[in-house]
Amino acid sequence: MTTPHPPSTPPSGTGSCPFTGEARDSEWSPDRNETFGSAHADYAALRAQNPFPWSEDFGGFWAATTYEDILAITQNDELFSTAKQNVVPHVPRASRRPPLHFDPPEHTEYRTAIDPVFRRSVVTEHAGAFRDSARRLVDGMLMETSPDAVRHLAAPFAMDCFAALLGLARDQTREIRDLGVRYGFAIQDMDNPVIEECSRRLYEIARDIYDRRLAEDPDPSRDLVAGLHRAALDPDTAITETSAVATIRQLIVAGMGAPQAVLGSCVAHLATDLELQAHLRAHPEDLPSAIEEMLRLHAPYRVFARTATRDTVIHGRTVAQDEPIALLFPSANRDETRFEDPDSFVLRRKQNSHLSFGRGSHRCPAATMGRLELLIALEELLERTETFSLAGDIVMMNWLEYGPRHVPLTVRPAAGMP
Ligand code: HEM
Repeated sequence: MTTPHPPSTPPSGTGSCPFTGEARDSEWSPDRNETFGSAHADYAALRAQNPFPWSEDFGGFWAATTYEDILAITQNDELFSTAKQNVVPHVPRASRRPPLHFDPPEHTEYRTAIDPVFRRSVVTEHAGAFRDSARRLVDGMLMETSPDAVRHLAAPFAMDCFAALLGLARDQTREIRDLGVRYGFAIQDMDNPVIEECSRRLYEIARDIYDRRLAEDPDPSRDLVAGLHRAALDPDTAITETSAVATIRQLIVAGMGAPQAVLGSCVAHLATDLELQAHLRAHPEDLPSAIEEMLRLHAPYRVFARTATRDTVIHGRTVAQDEPIALLFPSANRDETRFEDPDSFVLRRKQNSHLSFGRGSHRCPAATMGRLELLIALEELLERTETFSLAGDIVMMNWLEYGPRHVPLTVRPAAGMP
């Protein structure tokens, strides 16, 4: 665990702020050697001692750790923009990809085009495809000699669900799944040549998806591509074909990262709490509430950021114009001023208004889909196994996403399973 210093503590590392040129003490560094759940003690210490620290890491950034600060920042697009830097570290981008890299009012046009496709009545139409994928993957995992909940279930499942949402052809699904898994791991390894190669290919795939879907003339109120295309044809919006393809490109990445990370965390959680696992196997009706609590405990994102559009003060600290602020959603979700007994799993927790799907204009458009993915994957895993437990150490992803990269399992199949 890294130790946070209050602002008055002498510096462990001093740099000059890249934004103001002033000398700055680094007050906190994210731990590079996390284990499952270890970051939370670090975040709790920050909330108690220095809730809004400056870090010299990743080119310099502020870290918002409290529920109240994160809520306030996400709800003020005018002061906290995503157009300049929306992740820490800053990822150089050839062009901005909507909706995340745009602020209202432009951003609103993209959300108006994509939100209808994520409403419950549309997402549930894909439940059968999600379930087929979960069954196939769990059955495949049962045949593995060294099953890994991420490699064999969470990563390919997230891709399959995304492919189902977009109505991709079988060959596209296969490629997007292989590429998506490769891209995800390359990002974790910060393997730039592979990231660039995959990113280029993802743009080509997004274009291909766009052209092929339109050729099938789907219903714009239920189909992502058709909805975006309709907006691109509308002279009253700023959306163009190019920006519509860039939106698909962004959705591919957003759609695979978070569900993979949270599902990996959920399986890891249940593999280490066999009593809860047995309870949920016997009482699947409690799964939605358990998932909500696991979402709170294992929020996958802490790199989403906002950039101050002018000098401002947060938590008594002066944030200069253009400085990035990372939103540590996993910390907000365990803020003791908001949640009673925040580190404990509480089934049917009252007022579980966690921030795992964000808030404000950039809140996740696909929360319903994310929840459905988790429900179906865990239902199938619990039903098709008698028990599963850890077979080794959980390996965590790096800072970019908060979740496991490997969850080695020992899996005992349910009666009648292979
Ligand atoms: C359990 C699953 C998921 C979680 C926990 C999650 C979480 C989040 C969070 C916290 C944000 C807000 C980012 C910010 O404020 O800067 C976000 C935005 C977003 N998510 Fe998700 N997400 C999930 C699943 C998905 C899926 C399945 C898709 C697509 C198929 C998706 C697409 C997006 C997009 C496009 C945005 C940007 C929205 C905007 O800028 O207006 N997410 N998500």
